[in-house]
Amino acid sequence: MATSFQITLFSLLFIFTISQAQPSFRPSALVVPVKKDASTLQYVTTINQRTPLVSENLVVDLGGRFLWVDCDQNYVSSTYRPVRCRTSQCSLSGSIACGDCFNGPRPGCNNNTCGVFPENPVINTATGGEVAEDVVSVESTDGSSSGQVVTVPRFIFSCAPTSLLQNLASGVVGMAGLGRTRIALPSQFASAFSFKRKFAMCLSGSTSSNGVIIFGNDPYTFLPNIIVSDKTLTYTPLLTNPVSTSATSTQGEPSVEYFIGVKSIKINSKIVALNTSLLSISSAGLGGTKISTINPYTVLETSIYKAVTEAFIKESAARNITRVASVAPFGACFSTDNILSTRLGPSVPSIDLVLQSESVVWTITGSNSMVYINDNVLCLGFVDGGSNSRTSIVIGGHQLEDNLVQFDLATSRVGFSGTLLGSRTTCANFNFTS
Ligand SMILES: *[C@@H]1O[C@H](CO)[C@@H](O)[C@H](O)[C@H]1NC(C)=O
Ligand SMILES: *[C@@H]1O[C@H](CO)[C@@H](O)[C@H](O)[C@H]1NC(C)=O
Ligand SMILES: *[C@@H]1O[C@H](CO)[C@@H](O)[C@H](O)[C@H]1NC(C)=O
Repeated sequence: MATSFQITLFSLLFIFTISQAQPSFRPSALVVPVKKDASTLQYVTTINQRTPLVSENLVVDLGGRFLWVDCDQNYVSSTYRPVRCRTSQCSLSGSIACGDCFNGPRPGCNNNTCGVFPENPVINTATGGEVAEDVVSVESTDGSSSGQVVTVPRFIFSCAPTSLLQNLASGVVGMAGLGRTRIALPSQFASAFSFKRKFAMCLSGSTSSNGVIIFGNDPYTFLPNIIVSDKTLTYTPLLTNPVSTSATSTQGEPSVEYFIGVKSIKINSKIVALNTSLLSISSAGLGGTKISTINPYTVLETSIYKAVTEAFIKESAARNITRVASVAPFGACFSTDNILSTRLGPSVPSIDLVLQSESVVWTITGSNSMVYINDNVLCLGFVDGGSNSRTSIVIGGHQLEDNLVQFDLATSRVGFSGTLLGSRTTCANFNFTS
């Protein structure tokens, strides 16, 4: 008995020694760059995929279900594998269809393959696509700089036809979906590396310097050593719209987009009179507030748009800021004559989105409210979404820039930093070292 015990103990020690000798690197977070495309105002990230690795530019779709890539043109990879019907990867992808294809086999065209609906929300179009797996590699981070490249050998994505790239930024081969599904980038990265199901998005307002998306654990450090973390963010609950907002969906499927609860809007600290029932999400999935990287500017339902712009014009006039002719798509433009420049952008009336309580406020300062037209004209960067808009408030790209916004899927909350300009840094100040 004693002998056998010793042998067992010895082999346990032996195994322990081996695993110590070959530590596998497990990152606590990953980082990808995000560039604003000057002509489409889309946000474009870059990841590496396939064998051999190919660098792919992808439009960031915050509310997208998964990664999709054009497989019809130049998709060559020795590690491409279609996801077969009735496999665990197939159910993970939320597929309800099993497909065959007659002009293959090739990437995007195989028999007995699981099918989904890749979507391009810019043109509000979805097509059928084959679910597949391939190698994806990105840089890891300790939160303060980019580091060792790590690989997910069997990353699940969808193929799409070339036609789905219509109206996307030039040089782009697909879209990176960050939505609330099990195969969107945040969830797949979290399960591949066992880090938290959360990510932070920090979009740069400049088309010449990159912002970042960091998947995984906080903190997030920006030069010169400005640390943003769970402790410094303000949180609001992540809300679920019970009705899908996608171009295609199955009955009863909730939206995979990120909704938050705006309760009121204040301009210059004065409450704007609104039909507040438009601010909540109805059982039919109408109304409410979501965050989007697809809309370059915040879109407001017509009655909200009118009330907000009128209040803003009135408060601006009180500061001798004069209105000038509108410049499409904006309806409220101003002479720069009486607008001072400050660290937080043009000095204009502040806009507060009041969330779950009076003390939880997303403040939009001039840097995020005003759009530069020329040296003489600035416009309020909100657009009219019409009176039949499905979602009442869509917080768009310009209003997100140089704010760090964290989406925590595990705890169902959204954290926001307020403008980083107030902390004397920007989203372009992440230290990419390689
Ligand atoms: C799929 O199966 C059909 C019928 O058996 C065949 O004609 C077709 O070539 C197959 N396609 C692929 C991509 O293997
Ligand atoms: C407020 O909005 C709701 C939802 O769209 C609508 O049914 C209602 O008629 C509106 N109320 C007023 C006073 O406009
Ligand atoms: C606005 O302009 C008027 C007339 O020039 C001046 O009397 C007033 O003090 C100005 N108000 C502000 C807030 O600058």
